[in-house]
Amino acid sequence: MSKAPSTIHPLRPTPANVTIAPHRMGLQFASSTPRYWYDNDPVVSHFLNALSLSFPDGERFFVDSVRFFRDRIDDPARQKDISGFIGQEAMHTLEHSTFNRFLDSQGYADITRRAERTARTLLKGARIRMSSHEMLAATAALEHITAILADGLLRDDKTMQVMAPEVRALWMWHAIEETEHKAVAFDLYQDVDGRDRQRYIMLVVGTLFLAAYTSVYTWKLLRRDGMHRKPLVLAKGLWKLLGRNGLITRTIPDFLEFFDKDFHPWQQENSHLIRRWRAELDTLHDAKAA
Ligand SMILES: [Fe+2]
Ligand SMILES: [Fe+2]
Repeated sequence: MSKAPSTIHPLRPTPANVTIAPHRMGLQFASSTPRYWYDNDPVVSHFLNALSLSFPDGERFFVDSVRFFRDRIDDPARQKDISGFIGQEAMHTLEHSTFNRFLDSQGYADITRRAERTARTLLKGARIRMSSHEMLAATAALEHITAILADGLLRDDKTMQVMAPEVRALWMWHAIEETEHKAVAFDLYQDVDGRDRQRYIMLVVGTLFLAAYTSVYTWKLLRRDGMHRKPLVLAKGLWKLLGRNGLITRTIPDFLEFFDKDFHPWQQENSHLIRRWRAELDTLHDAKAA
């Protein structure tokens, strides 16, 4: 794995060639969008659907955690990145809410509403119980999860190619921006607190909550389709997630790096993925506009 490049500015650890700015996509999902939009696979499609259901409230939590401490930063470049982070997460909330309403239209409205309510209740509880330092540590930890999932989606062309085009644009765009801003919450946490043990605990707790949440709602969505009675479909989908080089399995080595004492999100220098997929996203957009 490549280490941090020399272009990293001491006050702005994000590489100089990475700009963090929000982009509104205005995505629409038609009734013709396939139900199993990921590789015609019910398990992986519903796993990513379940993740999407957690995003609107999760991302609001991230934004509030960062906003609380932003006045501690004097450096204008870092302030600009924080504004970019807040803008990007706000756009992700909007676009994923549109996607979640598309799931409603496919006959899952009761499940999606319950899932969104559950996320809201859990995060409301977290806001009450946690200090603002703990909230920021949790955000830095959960941003690590989104960053490694994003890297997993962008690193392998085949992963993007097996998605239905309109949904591919959503996940490609989100994964690009998660990569761009992957260090913003982490760097702010280092500035205002920096205790390693606290961020380790938040990664473990956050991962357990996210795993439980996505498992429950993936299962509920699969049950609605009668897929719980199809062991072959379940086994095939689970292999794509948890088997050799599965979508989740491939992130495990990167996941564990967070427990290094001198970890930094940009020690994995993957900004080439941003450039490569931004170009692809522009082509998709131009083709749509033509
Ligand atoms: Fe996001
Ligand atoms: Fe993010």
